[in-house]
Amino acid sequence: MPPHCVFLYRKMPSKMQAICKCNRDEVLKEMKQMTLEEARLYEKNQGSLILPEERPVFHVTPWIGWLNDPNGFSIYQGEYHLFYQYYPYDIHWGPTHWGHLKSKDFIQWERLPAALAPDTAYDAQGVFSGSAVELPDGRQLLMYTGVQGKDNTPECHQTQCIAIGDGINYQKYEHNPVITTDDIPETCFAKDFRDPKIWWDQEEHCYFAVVGVRVADSSGAVALFSSKDGLSWNYVNILDYCRNEYGKMWECPDFFEIGEKALLIVSPQEMRAQGLTFHNGNDVMCLIGTYDHTKHQFTRERVEAIDYGLDFYAPQTLKTTDGRRVLIGWMQAWETSHLCPQGAKWNGQMTTPRELTFDHGQLLQNPVKELAAYRQNSVIYTNVPFQQHTELSGVSGRVLDMTVKVRPEHDQSLEYFTIRLAANEAYNVALSYDPLRGTVCLDRTNSGFCYNIITKREAPVKDQGGKIDLRIILDRFSIEVFLNHGEQVMSACIYTPQEAEQIFFEAKGSGWFDVEKYEIKV
Ligand code: FRU
Repeated sequence: MPPHCVFLYRKMPSKMQAICKCNRDEVLKEMKQMTLEEARLYEKNQGSLILPEERPVFHVTPWIGWLNDPNGFSIYQGEYHLFYQYYPYDIHWGPTHWGHLKSKDFIQWERLPAALAPDTAYDAQGVFSGSAVELPDGRQLLMYTGVQGKDNTPECHQTQCIAIGDGINYQKYEHNPVITTDDIPETCFAKDFRDPKIWWDQEEHCYFAVVGVRVADSSGAVALFSSKDGLSWNYVNILDYCRNEYGKMWECPDFFEIGEKALLIVSPQEMRAQGLTFHNGNDVMCLIGTYDHTKHQFTRERVEAIDYGLDFYAPQTLKTTDGRRVLIGWMQAWETSHLCPQGAKWNGQMTTPRELTFDHGQLLQNPVKELAAYRQNSVIYTNVPFQQHTELSGVSGRVLDMTVKVRPEHDQSLEYFTIRLAANEAYNVALSYDPLRGTVCLDRTNSGFCYNIITKREAPVKDQGGKIDLRIILDRFSIEVFLNHGEQVMSACIYTPQEAEQIFFEAKGSGWFDVEKYEIKV
């Protein structure tokens, strides 16, 4: 069948497909090459039409079209690979493919052709999120969720699948799927079984994978599986249950240790707001505890938010060869993800990769150290007195890394400290510190995004007698704020016109602040 017929067949309503004389299996077979090839051709042709200034400078965006979760964030042949949930043909979500990039330093990314397309019966509704490892024979193994059957129909079915390749081209495993809900000995729902995160365990000499699943009480859990070869998998146990306490389905689990602590990160759906820690809807939650390697038991000690901003979801981590745990997230919220600027040819971006560490039991997140190599043209001010309105020469821009240290004269001598960024007379994004309440508020009400959506969120900060450290990363279409050396992080997209690039400081009280500002040039 000629390629254009295959394409038309795919677009037909299923009834017409049924009466169409062609043999469906043959068509699907042809579609297999067709679909990935089609995506690769499309992204190459259309992606090049997006001008560099229409994208962030160092945040990952799709080559063309739609991006959601980071996938397969891992090291392969000495380089960082990042795949992403991808629908090239629209700026809105569609049956997902895997887009692909690689990097030597987390900052400069090289685009590679799309890696996977929804081209088999078991993943026809989408090649959903997953992860990657390097195999001992030098090949790369991708583990992903194959979705068949339309969402919210009894046919909807999610299974875990494998593809193996050389870092560019991947072959789906002939015995896919490799894990189904039938492998789990308790009641769980095949329509919510997704997002495998795989890793190699040196001590046990086997692979493990965590997968999000929905169990009998209709809320989420994280199932653990093991495998000697990455192809044949055994159920181990459930690492933790939601028990309807933190949202419903738990998406995109990740599980790893930092020192003595075990961290289970999940992205719950349908969460109910809890103070400043969690907001309604899709959230990201870090369960911190310990892990018994012999019994494969995770003991939860506490629960924390990973990000207090407006746009953050489905993060994934890797461990660098020098032992750092680096996290990258989708810098977007599902609820507002359809609202992107008119005429945009891409939609969706990743966060700056962050290093996770512990300091006296406190989880810290800070931009990867590699970012420092791209800082240029430093502008430094010290002991600037608090005033109602301050502008500092050279402190402006939309692609920057800036640290502001606020030091009141004494405890309680500061009423508020506000930084307005991406500002001009019409626009600004405000970051306001309220020492009495112990909060920082990120407010994009005036960022030029005229929709009736939530535009503010607050993060709690610890009392340091009114002192605070704010590290702000701007990259054209986003702001990320690291509070007090990474104790809290706030991430948000901003679509403020690029000419709004001034920065203002406003304070009420007595004291001083220091500014260290760099442009980021890549
Ligand atoms: C999370 C998620 C995943 C799923 C993917 C589909 O954002 O819903 O659970 O695999 O997106 O694109």
